[in-house]
Amino acid sequence: MPVPDFSQNKKVLITGASGFIGSFLVEEGLLNGYRVYAGIRAGSKRIFLQDPSIRFFELDFSSPERLEKKLREFILAEGRFDYVIHNAGITRAGRKEDFHRVNYQYTKHLADALVATGSPPEKFIFISSLAAGGPGDPLRFTEINSSDPDHPISSYAKSKLDAEKYISSLPGLRPLIIRPTAVYGPRDRDFLNYFRILSKGIAPCMGSRRQILSFIYVKDLSRAVFKLLSSGRIHRSYLASDGNSYTNEDMLMLIWKIVDKPAIKIRVPLAPVRASVFFLEKLYSLFNRMPFLHCEKLEEITALNWSCNSSELWQDLGTAPKYSLEAGLYETARWYRENGWLV
Ligand SMILES: NC(=O)c1ccc[n+]([C@@H]2O[C@H](COP(=O)([O-])OP(=O)(O)OC[C@H]3O[C@@H](n4cnc5c(N)ncnc54)[C@H](OP(=O)(O)O)[C@@H]3O)[C@@H](O)[C@H]2O)c1
Repeated sequence: MPVPDFSQNKKVLITGASGFIGSFLVEEGLLNGYRVYAGIRAGSKRIFLQDPSIRFFELDFSSPERLEKKLREFILAEGRFDYVIHNAGITRAGRKEDFHRVNYQYTKHLADALVATGSPPEKFIFISSLAAGGPGDPLRFTEINSSDPDHPISSYAKSKLDAEKYISSLPGLRPLIIRPTAVYGPRDRDFLNYFRILSKGIAPCMGSRRQILSFIYVKDLSRAVFKLLSSGRIHRSYLASDGNSYTNEDMLMLIWKIVDKPAIKIRVPLAPVRASVFFLEKLYSLFNRMPFLHCEKLEEITALNWSCNSSELWQDLGTAPKYSLEAGLYETARWYRENGWLV
């Protein structure tokens, strides 16, 4: 396939390139003819970064000085990065303060360092999260809009919002924020758990109330990010979803259909889950740690309304998402099976 040349081989640095979303951003960048620099750390796995045209750029976000030095050296040798997509971040942590450190402080360090070089990129895209704005109205179930007041309900969400605020007010940086809803696709392990549980014969349903959710397939997200990169849009924030809303039941039934194995539906009441998570969190706190599922996380994932209005994004880009949840989940399952993640 011929490589589109609108990018004129511009340089894009993608942080968190080794992860699920990052590796797809890298592929999308290459597909669009960019010179892609995969921002990784020394110990990052490169399993999804096998294309020989990927250039690697090691980053240590913990030291603003080292970061600035590294960027200055690069600029001297190769010129500035035309674009930076800051995607590195954590969605789970061993300690609550890790969210603040990685998602807020490291974003601040990178943004500060880019500005300090005197040659900041043309655009700095920050991969935030729908969570940064908090869930939608649980009674009327109206969609979350980008203009709604923010009310994050977890340390993760707060750290993303703090980073958004910082980069939006930093003189010299030209930021654009994207808030994806739940992202799924090949290489993602969160959705894999649903597939695995269902293929073991259990269809779990948490709580008795209907939840309204939204999703985006990773390829649609990556396409949107690169369309935003080449657009004139700047200094604003977009919500990203596939444009539809689904109930938690819809999602479960779809995965069940794809797994195509007999399973029994097990409804897990929320009250005992809350109590166990609370107890576990207290226990872990004795060791200054946080369990994978903690109280805030539970409240976030069981919030009743995560439907969002992403029409601004797709209208401004003049395109539409290519994948419905069903199509995306089928492709995801195929990848899981082909790669031995799901039997
Ligand atoms: N997945 C979702 O549903 C979703 C939804 C909305 C927003 N997001 C955001 O999307 C971004 C990517 O998420 P993902 O799902 O792709 O997660 P992921 O697979 O865990 O990837 C995270 C990436 O961030 C890097 N990273 C983590 N901590 C770092 C640190 N201290 N220093 C440098 N790099 C670090 C990781 O590098 P290593 O490989 O070296 O660990 C990895 O490349 C995150 O910012 C997340 O908040 C995700």
